[in-house]
Amino acid sequence: MEFFQTPQAISQTTPRPEVEKMQGYKAPLEGRRNLLRLDFNENTIGPSPHVVEALRRIPRNHISIYPEYSGLREAVAISLNSREGASSIKSTQVGIFNGVDAAIHAIFHAYGDRGDQLLTTTPTFGYYTPCAQMQGMEIQAIPYEGQDFNFPIQQIQRVLIEKKTKLLLICNPNNPTGTRVSPQKIIDFATSTPNTLVVVDELYEAFTGDSVLPKVDFDKTPNLVVLRSLSKTAGLAGLRIGFAIGTIDVVNRISRVTGPYDVNSFAVIAALAALEDQAYVDAYVEEVLQAKDWINCQLKHSRRRYHLDGGNYLLIWPNQASLGVEASLKEAGILVRNMKGKPLIDGALRVSIGTTDQMQQFWEAFSNIDFIKVQ
Ligand SMILES: Cc1ncc(COP(=O)(O)O)c(C=O)c1O
Repeated sequence: MEFFQTPQAISQTTPRPEVEKMQGYKAPLEGRRNLLRLDFNENTIGPSPHVVEALRRIPRNHISIYPEYSGLREAVAISLNSREGASSIKSTQVGIFNGVDAAIHAIFHAYGDRGDQLLTTTPTFGYYTPCAQMQGMEIQAIPYEGQDFNFPIQQIQRVLIEKKTKLLLICNPNNPTGTRVSPQKIIDFATSTPNTLVVVDELYEAFTGDSVLPKVDFDKTPNLVVLRSLSKTAGLAGLRIGFAIGTIDVVNRISRVTGPYDVNSFAVIAALAALEDQAYVDAYVEEVLQAKDWINCQLKHSRRRYHLDGGNYLLIWPNQASLGVEASLKEAGILVRNMKGKPLIDGALRVSIGTTDQMQQFWEAFSNIDFIKVQ
């Protein structure tokens, strides 16, 4: 079907001014299937075979029925309490979303009003900005500090003291700098500013173990909400499923602004199977951490600037122009993400860490493309 829009039709149906002004979140997602994908920090080997099996067993007629969610919140709560040492999270404290992206969107929709302040760090995950912009919020983004991109604790505290912040968004570890901040510090932020909703994006927490969940008492800090996803470690990025964990009230408010069936049946079945097979996820995380050690050794001797901290990714500044190196890597079948235009890290490439084999493949191609002339 084609839509013909006349200029007149557009002018009669103006969107909200905030939407008119903002830029949508763009990511180079097409044509990636047959390449080595080190550009989106996804799991690079696929989900547990039990997930694939569970999806294969879905009867034909289930596709024509709206999804059922029973048991999923319970399974997430059990997983968080038993495997991760969270302190008695109840199933009613778990919200289910169409990926953490949808949870982020819902949080802004539910809590961010025109003129409210979003406080966050920079550079950080790119989707927070359009979500704030679509609500008409003011964005205050505090830069990471120094060559090592340390978390700007004093600066965040300074802004919080003014008591104007509606949402504080902390990505821990941060994508793309890998910066880690102690869970206790985050809880302290929340305690000191009860009127600020403190959102902790823990997408890459499995690679550091720095979660607030084992420490937080939601009765004492009801203004804290934690985001978790099955995209990065469990390998379900294509199915879209993520969780928000907080007080019953906060989870309820965030869930109110989503549609009743926003998470599809395939995602639910896959999530249940993935949560059952935690051993697979643990083994994958272990494999990535080994690969991280391996690539760290290569980088140490590489005479290039690089930065590697929390998360399953690293930053490297090639000797040659980053756009050219990115393009040549693509020709060699390897995708990485260019950080062009991002504050503090312009000129860097972000490289996801997969298995050691994949890192070896990357390193061989990268060293050939970005060779250093020996004088
Ligand atoms: C920090 C961070 N938060 C959220 C997301 C989105 O996760 P999901 O796939 O669960 O929507 C990403 C994906 O790259 C991310 O890096």
